[in-house]
Amino acid sequence: MNSKKTCYVTTPIYYASGNVHIGNSYSTIVCDCFARYNRLKGNDTFYLTGMDEHGLKIEEAAKKQGITPIGLVDKVALETSNLWKNLKITNDDFIRTSEERHSKVVQDIFETLLKNGDIYLGSYEGDYCVSCEAFFTKTQITEEGICPDCGKPLRRVKEESYFLNLKKYSDKLLKFIDDNPDFIQPESRKNEVVSFIKSGLEDLCVSRTSFTWGIKVPSNPKHVIYVWIDALSNYITALGYGSKDDSKYQKYWANGDEVVHVIGKDILRFHAVYWPIMLMALNVPIKFKLYVHGWYLMKDGKMSKSRGNMVYPMEVASRYGLDALRYYLISQMPLGNDALFSYDRFLEKFNTDLANDLGNLVSRTVAMINKYFGGKVSKPKENLLPFDKEIEDLLALTIDKYHESFSTFRFQNGLIQIWELISRANKYIDETEPWVLAKDPSKIDVLGDVMYHLYEVIRNIAYMVAPVMPDGSEKICDYLKTKADFNMLGYGKVESGEVIEKCDALFKRLDIEAELKYQEEKLEEKEPKEVFKDEITIEDFGKLDLRVGEVLEAKKLEKSDKLLVMKIKIGSSVRQVVSGISKFYTPEEMVGKHVVVVANLKSAMLRGVESQGMILAASTEDKLEVIEVGLPSNSKVS
Ligand code: MSP
Repeated sequence: MNSKKTCYVTTPIYYASGNVHIGNSYSTIVCDCFARYNRLKGNDTFYLTGMDEHGLKIEEAAKKQGITPIGLVDKVALETSNLWKNLKITNDDFIRTSEERHSKVVQDIFETLLKNGDIYLGSYEGDYCVSCEAFFTKTQITEEGICPDCGKPLRRVKEESYFLNLKKYSDKLLKFIDDNPDFIQPESRKNEVVSFIKSGLEDLCVSRTSFTWGIKVPSNPKHVIYVWIDALSNYITALGYGSKDDSKYQKYWANGDEVVHVIGKDILRFHAVYWPIMLMALNVPIKFKLYVHGWYLMKDGKMSKSRGNMVYPMEVASRYGLDALRYYLISQMPLGNDALFSYDRFLEKFNTDLANDLGNLVSRTVAMINKYFGGKVSKPKENLLPFDKEIEDLLALTIDKYHESFSTFRFQNGLIQIWELISRANKYIDETEPWVLAKDPSKIDVLGDVMYHLYEVIRNIAYMVAPVMPDGSEKICDYLKTKADFNMLGYGKVESGEVIEKCDALFKRLDIEAELKYQEEKLEEKEPKEVFKDEITIEDFGKLDLRVGEVLEAKKLEKSDKLLVMKIKIGSSVRQVVSGISKFYTPEEMVGKHVVVVANLKSAMLRGVESQGMILAASTEDKLEVIEVGLPSNSKVS
C-alpha cells in the first residue's frame, strides 16, 4: 500500500463572476475527499483548484459593479480561497488564470499551436452565449434562438478569429477513447462524448476581438485567447509545464501514475473533446481520467439567484457543522446522477446517520469501556461469541469495498457500506447485551471480547470516514487515543486500546421541526430580487412601433412543435408573423384575437419561414399568455 504512487487531482476552476454555492462547492469537496483518501493511502498527492478569471462574462460583471475586471477577480479569488479554508479543503495550490505563471505559458501554447498549423486564422460568424462563453451551431440552437445549455439569449457575433483544427484529430480521439475504456466515467457520459464526436466536429473558434479582458495572442494582440483554451491549460500550467521549473509537471503529469479531472456534466465537451485534442496537438500525453458528476438540484429545480433558492456552503456548515455538510453532499450523489439538496432530507440524514447511528455507537462504546474496564481494552486470545466472526468478516468486506469505491470516485457506495457496518455494530451491542454480561463475574472475558470488538470496529470506521468527515474522524480518534493510519486498517491490528474518560456527543440530535421553520424563514429573506435589464431612455422606447393587429389566419409550422405561423392584419396591410406559442394556443384559439405587434421589427427567418414582426406575450416558466386588446386593428400602443 505504501508504494508512493503519485496522484494528481483537479477541480474545475471557478468563474470569478459570482459566489460559490453548495452545488459548485461539491466539485471541490468531492476532490478533497479523493485527495485526503490518497494521502492516507500513502500516495504522493497533489490537489489543485483555482479560478477562471478571464472572458466577456467577467468583464461585464465587473462593469455592472462599477469596478475593474482585476478588482473583481481579486475580490472573488480571495473570498473563494477563504471559503475553501473554512471548508478544510486541502488543496496544494490555487491557480488563478490572471497570474503570469499561467498567462505566459498559455501564450506560448497558443503560438506553438499556431506555428504547427493546428491553429489558423479565419473569420467567424455565429451565435454566442456570453454566460457559457461558447458558440453554438444552428443545429444546437432552439427555435427561440436561445442557448441550449443555459436558456439565455444568444448574441450574433462576427469577427476575424483563430480556429483550432478539431477535425484533424477526431479519429485519433475516438481511437483514444476506445483504447482507454475508463477515460470518461461514468459510461453514459462517455457514450455522449462519442456520439458528439461522431456527429462531426467543427473547428473551434479560439480567439475573440470583441472584448479585451483576457490573454492576448502575442503575435496578433488585438485577439484575446478564447477563455476555454486559457482555462483548460491551468491543469498543466499550475504544474510548471512550459516554465523553467517543470519538476511538478514531470512528476505528477508526464511520469505520474494517476491524474484525475473532476467536472460537472455541463462542462463535459470542453474536457473530453477540446482538452485532449489540445494535448494531442501539443504532443503532451493525455494522462488524465475524467470523472463527471451530476448536479445538486433544489426541490424547485436548478439553484439560481432569480429563483432565490441559492444555498451557500457556510450557511450550512456554520449551523450544522462542516462534517454534516460534507457527509450530506458526498453521501447523496451517486457518480454521474443528479441529487437533491433539501433541508428535510439533510436534517433527517443528520439525525439518523450521524447523531443516532454513528454518534450513539461511539458514545455508548466509550462509556461502556470506561464503566466496565476503566477505559482499557485488549485483544482476546480467541473469539468467544458467534457474532464476533460475523462482525469481523463484515469489517474486512467493508474495507475492501471502501478502497474499491473511494479509489474510483464511488464515494456514495463506500459510505453506504460503512453505515452498514455501523448498523451491524449497534446490533452487535443489542445481541451481546454487555449490561447483562457485566452482572455475571464469570462473563468478564466475554465482556472484554465484546468491548475489544467494538473498539476495533469504531477505530476502523474513524479511519475510513476521515476523507469525508475530517473533524468527526479526528474527534473519534481522540476518544480512542489513536490516529488515522491506513496501514492499521483491519480487525485486530492493535493489541490493546484506550479511550478517554468522557466524550461529548459527536452530533447532537436536532429538533427537525424547529430547524425547518428556521430555514423557511431564512428562505423568505432570500426572496428573489427583480433583476432588470439596463436602463433605456424614452427615446429608446419611442423607437418601437407597437400596433394592435387582428389575427386572420393561424396554422402550425410543420416539423415544429413550438411555432405558429399567423397572418395578422394591421390597418390595410397583412403580414406574416411566426411565433413560439404553439404549446399554449391552438391555431383556432388565435384566430380573431386582437394582439399587440412590434410592427417595425426587422424581418427574420425562423425555420425557413419569414416572420415580419413579433407579437407580445407575458410568460412565466411554464405559462404564456398573449397580450390582447379590445381596440380595433392598427390602434397604437405606447
Ligand atoms: N470555469 C468553468 C470551468 C473551467 S475548468 C477548466 C466553470 N466554472 S463554474 O464555476 O461555472 O462551475 C464549476 C463547477 O461547478 C463545474 O464542474 C460545474 O459543473 C459545477 N456545478 C455548477 N452548479 C452545480 C450544481 N448545482 N451541482 C453540482 N455541481 C455544479 O464551469
